[in-house]
Amino acid sequence: MTQKSLFDDADTPALTAVRIHPDFTSWQQRARQLLLDEVPPQRVWWQADETQSRAIATAGNANIRVPKPFLTQARAASCHRNGDRWALLYHLLWRMTHGEHHLMALSSDPLVVQLHYYAKAVSRDVHKMKAFVRFRAVDGADGDPRYIAWFEPDHYIVEYAAPFFQRRFANMCWSILTPDCCAHWEGRGEVWFSAGADKAAAPGDDLVEETWRCYYRSIFNPARVKIQAMLSEMPQKYWKNLPEARLIPELVRESGNRVDTMTNEVKTAEQLRCGPRPAAPEQTLNDAIQHSEPGSIQQLALAAQKCRNCPLWQPATQTVFGAGPVPAPIMLIGEQPGDQEDLTGKPFVGPAGALLNHALTAAGLRRDELYITNTVKHFKFRARGKRRLHERPREEEIQACAPWLAAEIDQVQPDIIVCLGATAAQAQLGQGMQVTRDRGKVITRQGRHYLITVHPAYLLRNGESPHDLERFVADLQVAARHLQLLRSP
Ligand code: URA
Repeated sequence: MTQKSLFDDADTPALTAVRIHPDFTSWQQRARQLLLDEVPPQRVWWQADETQSRAIATAGNANIRVPKPFLTQARAASCHRNGDRWALLYHLLWRMTHGEHHLMALSSDPLVVQLHYYAKAVSRDVHKMKAFVRFRAVDGADGDPRYIAWFEPDHYIVEYAAPFFQRRFANMCWSILTPDCCAHWEGRGEVWFSAGADKAAAPGDDLVEETWRCYYRSIFNPARVKIQAMLSEMPQKYWKNLPEARLIPELVRESGNRVDTMTNEVKTAEQLRCGPRPAAPEQTLNDAIQHSEPGSIQQLALAAQKCRNCPLWQPATQTVFGAGPVPAPIMLIGEQPGDQEDLTGKPFVGPAGALLNHALTAAGLRRDELYITNTVKHFKFRARGKRRLHERPREEEIQACAPWLAAEIDQVQPDIIVCLGATAAQAQLGQGMQVTRDRGKVITRQGRHYLITVHPAYLLRNGESPHDLERFVADLQVAARHLQLLRSP
């Protein structure tokens, strides 16, 4: 929206045409020279060719002594779409360097108000871009996946926001296409930019879309539907590019029924405390492991039902052993069973499992070809009213279960082990492992290959970081690619 400029001065002809690249650094350099030459703002006609590429605004300054809040706000405001922003910035700069050093403190000054208004609009736009960019995977030139997103920002923010995406998706090759400018990252070097693109250049639906919808369905709380708040957080103009948005009308419509179902779904006392459990162990844990021959994973699973190696067996319904083919090329290790896993006796069948299934498909993996298990085989929980809340297992509990997991690895002989979350990563590779630092790359220890990534339950809890979903799929793709490499002649 073009607004009437606050500093048009019809009586003073603009004498000096100043051409700049449409970025803050270029403006800074020219503004500094104009100040040195004592050219007042009324005599400057700023001309920026908005089709040219913009440099990423850096923290450096051009030796103009101005308050830091001005620099921060000016850098953001320089990305506003309104063409009068360069003149606004120079007006403010001129006044600050000509006796009004504390101008920024005058919050009612019309030019200061306008600066804040521009900076705020830009930072809101950047916030929306961080939240609503959705990558879709396509085959890259070298056979590796490339992630491509389409976004329509209100302002010229692509270069300004690019460092965020570079940090966040350091391990992926990606492009963000917008009508004004496109940003590209090759996994190393510098982000590079190209001219704006057409929406048709962006890929349509892919398999990650389904993962998105599964994720959104899982985090959507029917008991907390606030339409107005939802619309202000996710304005409707972004919906057309958001895979999950098409679910919203249906989820809102169903929310009343879902709340009723949840309220009526009271677990029986037996389900809450402990279901039918095996009698006292006839066979010790060591016996079971010693007597199991290759191929006897079922024997191990049976023996594990009787495990009393730590107190977690008592409140749990049953031991949840691993599941999947033996041997298997990939083994996924989670933390411990959750509520639904405890009741069904199968790993990853609850909401985290549903998200995992979608992410595996999006990464090109088939769950029925993988072996899936947990670090700890009993559900550890704290009862709150009618609900059982997950509790993190302690080191002794992890250690107590370690022989079962080691025996499973022995039987499954995976080419690569994927550790889902910190508990699995630290149990396999040591306490020094950090998911945020060590994820997404193949780690080789004693001839075994490991890959660390986040736990899908973390993604469900962290509704605020939607990009983690794409990174999760990208991490799983590293495992898939590694497998292809191992198998290629
Ligand atoms: N979380 C896990 O770590 N394992 C499961 O089986 C389910 C949820």
